[in-house]
Amino acid sequence: MGDWVCTRAQGAAACLEETLNRKLGVMVRLTFLEHDGKAHVVEAVEGETLMRAALDNNVPGIVGECGGELACATCHCYLDTALSEAIEPIGNDETAMLEGALDVTRESRLSCQVLISKRMEGATVRLPLSQT
Ligand code: FES
Repeated sequence: MGDWVCTRAQGAAACLEETLNRKLGVMVRLTFLEHDGKAHVVEAVEGETLMRAALDNNVPGIVGECGGELACATCHCYLDTALSEAIEPIGNDETAMLEGALDVTRESRLSCQVLISKRMEGATVRLPLSQT
């Protein structure tokens, strides 16, 4: 696993908790929802990316062609806006890469840039039609 990076938005206490959870291998339950409504419930380790969790669990619709280097947008997904901003607001580089993606909405994120947090427990990650 790479280095853990805390964000200003999450605050010091939440960062410490997530760091400990990551070291302990705390699991977070997520649902990836394909565009046609097919759901994939996965258990993912806090601190890994949504992209890695999808690929490790063979979720269709997340390709991750560039391996998470922010160079392809084939890991496009949709997160509830409030949740997205609470965990880690979208960055300028991610926003720029999304400009080349299809079916972009206000809820669009690149799953390789979203670190799984305990605050995402039970969250649904929707997948775009363009990646079916
Ligand atoms: S995997 Fe390429 S931008 Fe996310």
